[in-house]
Amino acid sequence: MSIYLDNHATTRIDPAVIDVMVRMMETNYANPGSTTHEAGRLVSGLVADATQSIASHFHADPDEIIVTSGATESNNLALFGVAMHPKQTRRRIVSAVTEHRAILDPLVQLEKHGFEVIRLPVFPNQHPFAGGIDLSLAAESINEDTAIVSIMLANNEIGTIQPLAELAKLCQRWGVPLHTDATQAAGRMPMDVQAMGVDLLSFSSHKFYGPKGIGGLFVRQSPAAVRIQAQIVGGGQQFNLRSGTLNSVGIVGMAKALEVVESNLLAEMPQQAYLRNLLWELLNERIDGLILNGPVWNAMAPRESTRLVNNLNVCFPKVEGQSLMLEVPDLAVSSGSACTSVEPHPSHVLRGIGLSEDQARASLRFGIGRFNTEAEIRKTAEWIGKAHAKLAAFAA
Ligand SMILES: Cc1ncc(COP(=O)(O)O)c(C=O)c1O
Repeated sequence: MSIYLDNHATTRIDPAVIDVMVRMMETNYANPGSTTHEAGRLVSGLVADATQSIASHFHADPDEIIVTSGATESNNLALFGVAMHPKQTRRRIVSAVTEHRAILDPLVQLEKHGFEVIRLPVFPNQHPFAGGIDLSLAAESINEDTAIVSIMLANNEIGTIQPLAELAKLCQRWGVPLHTDATQAAGRMPMDVQAMGVDLLSFSSHKFYGPKGIGGLFVRQSPAAVRIQAQIVGGGQQFNLRSGTLNSVGIVGMAKALEVVESNLLAEMPQQAYLRNLLWELLNERIDGLILNGPVWNAMAPRESTRLVNNLNVCFPKVEGQSLMLEVPDLAVSSGSACTSVEPHPSHVLRGIGLSEDQARASLRFGIGRFNTEAEIRKTAEWIGKAHAKLAAFAA
């Protein structure tokens, strides 16, 4: 038996998504840009319908969605697109220390282009809102020279959900576009760009049971259009903002994935919260001295918690996360974000909430997904409990 609990890194593609993609590949393979013939017009129509459906999931209009290769590209398009627009005169960018590298690395590049980057600290692990930004510090950092604010909706390691609606009000005061990296949140909580008040939002299909290599960026068009500069130029597709033949199979697959999310989300959220809470309880029954990394949750009202329902991040006493993973080879979990887990550095997110290097190295991230069962959660707790007891005995 192998158990997959690494649903923050990626998710298993839903069978319903595979079905529509295979059908699309077999029959509707024409280029959606080839509107001179019937086959192309048919695919163009299917892509338009899929884009409409993707947009409505986010409460956006279809002309506000730019399809990309995933969240890394969407984040790059948002940050470079706003900062490097020819009419851009502002020089400050506000973000946070716990962002994903798909934000942090572009920010380093923008600093080299002369931008001043403010990386907000976050509340420490002892705080009930661990990993959350302090809105009063954000308010002090946002001013008339701020070109863009970029704060992720939910953290990929500790699940913290940021107060975007409040942040949006601060941004609006200075006419600053607010970007959010919603990669971990999309598919796991309701998405409404109007209620959040964000101007740009990145998402990636493989995090919500869709195919890899496709995602999107919401770019607000009303009441005022956000000005972004294209980063990929060529055939002029997608309003000239992202050229290249549309990935019609991916777009239809991503739309189907969001459709499945729409019909399942209200049942999935409490179910995943239940499994996450159960895992935490069972681990505590077997191991003394565990530390919860990230915000506490409200077991009675998962939808009101400031933590993703499917996220658990735990610091184990006396034992390294990597060693635990080696002891339990049939369990897929992670000791950091997928993009950085090949690096020896301890997680910048765990360091950002004040954990020591040793504590960060002694931590594991569990990500529950649609296909996990209670039996798997019980087995995971058993495996980890035994592995920890064995390793801790060596360490003593
Ligand atoms: C918060 C966050 N942003 C961006 C990314 C990058 O997404 P993609 O793999 O679609 O480029 C990830 C993926 O792990 C993520 O978790």
